[in-house]
Amino acid sequence: MNIILLGPPGAGKGTQANLLVDNHGMRQLSTGDMLRAAVKAQTPVGLEAKAVMERGELVSDEIVSALIDAELNAMDAETGAIFDGFPRTAPQAAMLEEILAKHDRKLDLVVELVVDEDALVDRVTGRYTCANCGEGYHDRHKQPAVEGVCDKCGSTEFKRRKDDTEETVRMRMKEYRAKTAPILPVYEPRGIVHRVDGMASIDEVTSAIEKVLASA
Ligand code: AP5
Ligand code: ZN
Repeated sequence: MNIILLGPPGAGKGTQANLLVDNHGMRQLSTGDMLRAAVKAQTPVGLEAKAVMERGELVSDEIVSALIDAELNAMDAETGAIFDGFPRTAPQAAMLEEILAKHDRKLDLVVELVVDEDALVDRVTGRYTCANCGEGYHDRHKQPAVEGVCDKCGSTEFKRRKDDTEETVRMRMKEYRAKTAPILPVYEPRGIVHRVDGMASIDEVTSAIEKVLASA
């Protein structure tokens, strides 16, 4: 199964993708994670993407599509893909069609997480992750059971994203409204778009997505 998780910054795409990986053995393909890894490793892609990401703007369609293609090349055909943060523009949606066809895959579902934008600023500016295993936390909504210790791996090191400031989040939302939301109508006629209330609790959102998967 191949799924697109669509939603503005902080909608919960990464959180839900991680749970789908744990529950269904699917693979999360997050262009945001791939780009952050490239920035950290100071690859040519990373050097080009760094400033763009820090401004909350979008990296070029060609760069992100090439990253997705390379990941699918390295995957076996049976493993399902969860596209998290891709496609984000009409050209990326067209490139995804070509890439999927090349890999003999078809798009089964598009899940849109519907959220209230004001609440997203709180979600994004309050989040942090374990520096060791990447488990996600939030200052108010999801704290480790033991303060300062990762539930998953026991690490005491945590980090925050550079683009999680209020100003940058607002720019990322503007980009979402202008460039990403308009790609949804492309998928509507195929009957594969499902809307899920992203303002419900993490568990409730997961249950709603599970229901969509079961019905597909
Ligand atoms: P990317 O990494 O994709 O960021 P994003 O789309 O802005 O999404 P986020 O990771 O911020 O949010 P999320 O929806 O995953 O939410 P999360 O689960 O973490 O992209 C970053 C940048 O890279 C872009 O700005 C761009 O520059 C570049 N880029 C990436 N892909 C690109 C592409 N295709 N084309 C061009 N450029 C690209 O949840 C947020 C917080 O809320 C967490 O703390 C979580 O614990 C909490 N939370 C989650 N769900 C709930 C809930 N139901 N209730 C309460 N709290 C919740
Ligand atoms: Zn950890």
